[in-house]
Amino acid sequence: MKTPVRVAVTGAAGQIGYAILFRIANGDLLGKDQPVILHLLDLPVAQKALNGVIMELKDCAFPLLAGVVPSDDPNVAFKDIDIAILIGSRPRGPGMERRDLLAANAEIFKVQGKALNDFAKRTVKVLVVGNPANTNAYIAMKSAPDLPKSAFTAMLRLDHNRAVSMLAEKAGVEVADIEKVAVWGNHSPTMYADYRFAAVGGESLAAKINDETWYRETYLSAVGKRGAAIIEARGLSSAASAANAAIDHVRDWVLGTNGKWVSMGIPSDGSYGVPEDVMFGVPVVCEGGVYKRVEGLPVDEFSKGRIQHTLNELLEEREAVASLLS
Ligand code: NAD
Ligand code: LMR
Repeated sequence: MKTPVRVAVTGAAGQIGYAILFRIANGDLLGKDQPVILHLLDLPVAQKALNGVIMELKDCAFPLLAGVVPSDDPNVAFKDIDIAILIGSRPRGPGMERRDLLAANAEIFKVQGKALNDFAKRTVKVLVVGNPANTNAYIAMKSAPDLPKSAFTAMLRLDHNRAVSMLAEKAGVEVADIEKVAVWGNHSPTMYADYRFAAVGGESLAAKINDETWYRETYLSAVGKRGAAIIEARGLSSAASAANAAIDHVRDWVLGTNGKWVSMGIPSDGSYGVPEDVMFGVPVVCEGGVYKRVEGLPVDEFSKGRIQHTLNELLEEREAVASLLS
């Protein structure tokens, strides 16, 4: 039997929490032979509901669930953890943009970044889901100076999965056969879902679709505004697909992508004209528990404009939280 891995989930009593915990306990995150101990953080006011979720987890009798540590204190919840999935924060409602949540949510990630810095394992892997995810991940990273910057990532995987799914539908091909899609930048409508390198069985997907007008005028905004479309339809923001994307992100980071590209928000190293430390969506491959940016891709004029546009928004968000971090 392997040693259990400690996985912290914040906002555990919320709707994404309800969709993700049972899948983690079932082995979908780290494999069917890997026991887990769930560290569940939520606000004091949510502890009763959290207790109900824990009762349900127990009622599943998951063979891989080796323990549950509930808490309303990040210093307790993050003690000795290997993985942190930071979901807990306010979601947006109809008519809001994700950056409107900065005022409500930024402080949470400062406090939690510090708690990770002080209590998590030095090898911890952190995924920020709570919106605005890129800038919250940036805040957490800046609040944890003793941890490597590479420990902090933001979730672009939901955008990546949406981007692949919509391309598959348009081209009439299987999702699993599509390679080399990249989503650049911010998890917001400014993101750039880039299909220039996408291929199916070695054939260019752009050539197969052969409809650049559809790509530029319909597809890009459909991917970018999918979150708002779901809020409009459900009255609530995406939950099961967000939980699924978080599982995909962490599983691929830990277990590897076998050379396949996925999109992750990671701290910039200055490449592609993105200033260092900006938490920016890029294509990566993962191997041996490490993500590696796909380097040296050509950037044409259209892509340059799109990358700059989403970068500008992230720079504005960075400016908006500068006083919080000073
Ligand atoms: P929700 O309101 O259902 O649940 C949020 C939970 O977080 C609640 O239980 C709340 O008590 C808890 N919480 C609030 N502040 C907390 C804190 N300081 N510490 C711990 N827990 C805290 O919301 P949800 O639908 O689960 O969404 C959560 C977040 O995820 C929102 O910000 C949402 O916008 C975001 N989201 C991101 C993506 C993405 O792709 N990055 C996708 C979907 C949702
Ligand atoms: C999403 O993309 O579905 C989430 O970020 C929720 C939202 O506010 O759109």
